[in-house]
Amino acid sequence: MLQEVNIRVPATTANMGAGFDTFGMAFAMYNTVALKRITGNAIRLENLGAHTKTMEQVKDNLTVRSARKVFDAVGEPFAGLEFKMYNVIPVSRGLGSSSAAIIGGLMAANRLLGDPLDKAQLLELAVELEGHSDNVAPALYGGFVSSCQRGGKTVALKLTPPANLAAVVAIPDFYLSTSKARKILAPEVKRADAVHNIQCAALMVGAMATGDLQLFAAAFDDRLHQEQRYRLIKGAKRVLRAARSAGAIAAGLSGAGPTMIAFINTEDNRAEQIKKAMQRAWEFAGVSAKTMLLEQDNQGAQDC
Ligand code: HSE
Repeated sequence: MLQEVNIRVPATTANMGAGFDTFGMAFAMYNTVALKRITGNAIRLENLGAHTKTMEQVKDNLTVRSARKVFDAVGEPFAGLEFKMYNVIPVSRGLGSSSAAIIGGLMAANRLLGDPLDKAQLLELAVELEGHSDNVAPALYGGFVSSCQRGGKTVALKLTPPANLAAVVAIPDFYLSTSKARKILAPEVKRADAVHNIQCAALMVGAMATGDLQLFAAAFDDRLHQEQRYRLIKGAKRVLRAARSAGAIAAGLSGAGPTMIAFINTEDNRAEQIKKAMQRAWEFAGVSAKTMLLEQDNQGAQDC
């Protein structure tokens, strides 16, 4: 029986243009969860830089709640455990921090118990916790994942993105909760807009399957959510234009925002100029932001 496990979980972007609530991709920026058995029945939690939390806070923690799901699913008592979290994925910025917390808890618990559940079962638990699968699926599997719910089950297709695809993200210093960014969306869409997104989404899957970055650039477009959300994100459209003019092959919102993501062909060697252009555009809008280059992750959550 394992006494201790260490799991790392990648950051993710969701939607990727046309694939609202459908597409996601994992990047090499990781949160880690260390889970070990301790004597007694307590559940302890430590976040990097923070003190051990009280019992109430521990119970509410998303990683702890997720781990508990696995223990409950296999009928193991949830007691005598210590969680240590090292979180680097920025919170409420559209880079999958809550999905990383969920997948970290599920994977760590499952490993500690000897892997009683397979990845498809873990994904179902993750979707129950998160409500949609677009971030949790790539956090679990890595790579690009297209997923949907059919007959109460999650169907997920993982593809390995072209090796020369990476992203520059510009993360502003303000939060935007996914629920706020969802509330702003009109409840109905025009048929022409729905058709446009279906066409682009189908091409995007083709771009990922064939490694065609020109097709990727052509397919990266959206008429279902981005335009409405830009109203909540000061400077977003300026950052978008800046990324495109600096040589990004495609750019848009990362998930529900507020982070802006620019996809790049690494062979173009334009990452630095795109970072600078996005940073300057945010500054011009009076927003301070951090930019970084993110390489793709194709492993998903795993031991570390
Ligand atoms: N797809 C979600 C949204 C965000 O755009 O609201 C990530 O789960």
